[in-house]
Amino acid sequence: MNAITLITILCITDLCCGTLLPPIGKNKKEKGKLHEKSYEGPVDQNVFEKNLVVENPKQQDILHESGRYFQNTQHRRFKGDVLGYCTPWNRNGFEIAKKFHGKFAIVSPIWLTFSFGNTSIDHHSVQTKWIKEIRANDNINHTVKLMPRVLFEHWSIDDINKIYFNMDSQTQLAVSLLENAKIFHFDGYVLEIWNQFIFAGAHLPVVTSIVKSITQRLKEFNLDVILAIPPSRGTKVEIFSKQEFDELASYVNAFSLMTYDYSSIQRPGPNSPLDWSRQCVELLVPEKNDPRRSQILLGINFYGYNYTPEGGRAILASEYLNILKSFKGKIQWDNSSKEHFFESKLTTGNGYVFYPTLYSIKARLELANELGTGISIWELGQGLNYFYDLL
Ligand SMILES: *[C@@H]1O[C@H](CO)[C@@H](O)[C@H](O)[C@H]1NC(C)=O
Ligand SMILES: *[C@@H]1O[C@H](CO)[C@@H](O)[C@H](O)[C@H]1NC(C)=O
Ligand SMILES: *[C@@H]1O[C@H](CO)[C@@H](O)[C@H](O)[C@H]1NC(C)=O
Repeated sequence: MNAITLITILCITDLCCGTLLPPIGKNKKEKGKLHEKSYEGPVDQNVFEKNLVVENPKQQDILHESGRYFQNTQHRRFKGDVLGYCTPWNRNGFEIAKKFHGKFAIVSPIWLTFSFGNTSIDHHSVQTKWIKEIRANDNINHTVKLMPRVLFEHWSIDDINKIYFNMDSQTQLAVSLLENAKIFHFDGYVLEIWNQFIFAGAHLPVVTSIVKSITQRLKEFNLDVILAIPPSRGTKVEIFSKQEFDELASYVNAFSLMTYDYSSIQRPGPNSPLDWSRQCVELLVPEKNDPRRSQILLGINFYGYNYTPEGGRAILASEYLNILKSFKGKIQWDNSSKEHFFESKLTTGNGYVFYPTLYSIKARLELANELGTGISIWELGQGLNYFYDLL
């Protein structure tokens, strides 16, 4: 029996939207300590030397070792590009980005928003102090590109048509991006536009055209563009397919492929089955030797889910460790999805916790390596310190 069949017996009532949005009213304590002090910080052995990357991880090892990390944070094991997202509502991610600077090609804070068709960007979340600090870690051997993720929120179909048909509006939007790049010295942007515009009712050619237009204008000023794209859902008509990839690959620098949230509160299970991730890449770029494979940044989740009889929700490192502390039993390996999970005993019934482990992340890095893609991590504030030994 695999994990999917195991947990479909759960009774599901809640609604959830992953960790893409700020959590409501449960944020403050996230700042708290993940670990006891003695279990934190740099050490002189990596997770491989400590034999922690295993199919049968021990609960105590996770609790004791996950806050530690190998002291040489400059060393890179994974050869492809690594993009790490940071969100203002998980502040730890900004510390991680500085600490493991040497591991990342690109860091993308979720800072900027175009709302309600407004072509001026809202940049009040930008943290100039942190920009200075992370830039100070750049050196002759390694620099990190700063490319904030730009959200397009609450656009109506009329707003979208307006920028599609009106060149002045397109120019205003591009100018707003250019101005901010100049003020804050950004290297480019990750555009979070695809799902939003498609769900607002825009047709694929319209969104494709808008992305091309924005990208062309930014490229004139040497700014990079990464497009965040949805994964395949196995439906007849995909909202981002090979056709769109082929049209846009020569415009954008890369695609951040959001291969997570495969399961949901309505349909509990693994967050990112390995074969599905593979399929999502192969559907876009079928040919193994196609150099455009390297433009795909395969999405890897550093958060998990706690599915409970009431529904459950996405969980971060600190919540995961708390659940693990009181857990008695065995952490199980789901061989079909290549993810670990365990059963949590609750007064209201049993729950199931899926959260990445060293072993599951290693499998995904090997997949990315085999496929010739980079990776994108959602997100730095949600994982465990020792995960970075793998990168
Ligand atoms: C558009 O956004 C900018 C930046 O957030 C804001 O200053 C301005 O008031 C907004 N304009 C409208 C009409 O809402
Ligand atoms: C850059 O790399 C060289 C060779 O590995 C090393 O000797 C040097 O110390 C590094 N410089 C910095 C600033 O890290
Ligand atoms: C685990 O899955 C792989 C394929 O991904 C398969 O080759 C192997 O036999 C499976 N192992 C077990 C114990 O089911």
